[in-house]
Amino acid sequence: MWRRVTSLSSFLTSPSRSFLLNPNQEAYGQRICKSLCTDGGKSGSGGFFSRDHCPYIAFVLGGPGSGKGTQCTKIVENFGFTHLSAGDLLRKEITSDSKDGSMIFQMIKEGNIVPSEVTVKLLQKAISLSENNKFLIDGFPRTEENRISYERIIGAEPNMVLFFHCPEEEMIKRVLNRNEGRIDDNEETVKARLNVFRGLSLPVVNYYAAKGKLHKINGTGSEEEIFERVKPIFAALRYFGI
Ligand code: C5P
Ligand code: MG
Repeated sequence: MWRRVTSLSSFLTSPSRSFLLNPNQEAYGQRICKSLCTDGGKSGSGGFFSRDHCPYIAFVLGGPGSGKGTQCTKIVENFGFTHLSAGDLLRKEITSDSKDGSMIFQMIKEGNIVPSEVTVKLLQKAISLSENNKFLIDGFPRTEENRISYERIIGAEPNMVLFFHCPEEEMIKRVLNRNEGRIDDNEETVKARLNVFRGLSLPVVNYYAAKGKLHKINGTGSEEEIFERVKPIFAALRYFGI
């Protein structure tokens, strides 16, 4: 991993090569290179990921209705990532008769956050069942506790974090119009979810911004317009063989 990143790093910075990348891709490439390099110490060093199997992990964050799931679907189609939605994994657990099912149901109904151990274990299982080596983890971490629990159990940090930024009125409108039959897509629970987002999730976003891992994306406009903003980030990853 180190050898590969070093050689690609010089590939990106070499004046004779940089004409191959458009300015957006080059800027993203530099940041992605940095995240790969700084991650090397943590990923694959004694945690859940081994040195031989150290997948590329992108966390996808944003408030309810910010477009995380929709954009993840497009990233999967265009860039071959596996999409793991923490919310979907938790909803599946409710219908699978697991011992945590009724607790999860209650938490989701009220817009609260399920204990981190439960969510991290579901993500861990989904990663280990997949043959892919690049994942979008959507809707996680929602709290500092989620983040710390993931780092403790998995023993690694994400390689990058996408954050879809969207005005609250727009997010509320989208959630109330989407008609997916979710028990938490109602006015009262959306308010609770937005409170959780402001109070508990934004500190996580700020944490990754301070670490230089955050890609903040304007989440307003059509699905296609938003995806045009997402694309260069993943296109740049191709230069690293990801
Ligand atoms: O991401 P999504 O909107 O599908 O999440 C739905 C609900 O699932 C959240 O409001 C929360 O109750 C629960 N959840 C959680 N912890 C996460 C992700 C989702 O408790 N990390
Ligand atoms: Mg979703």
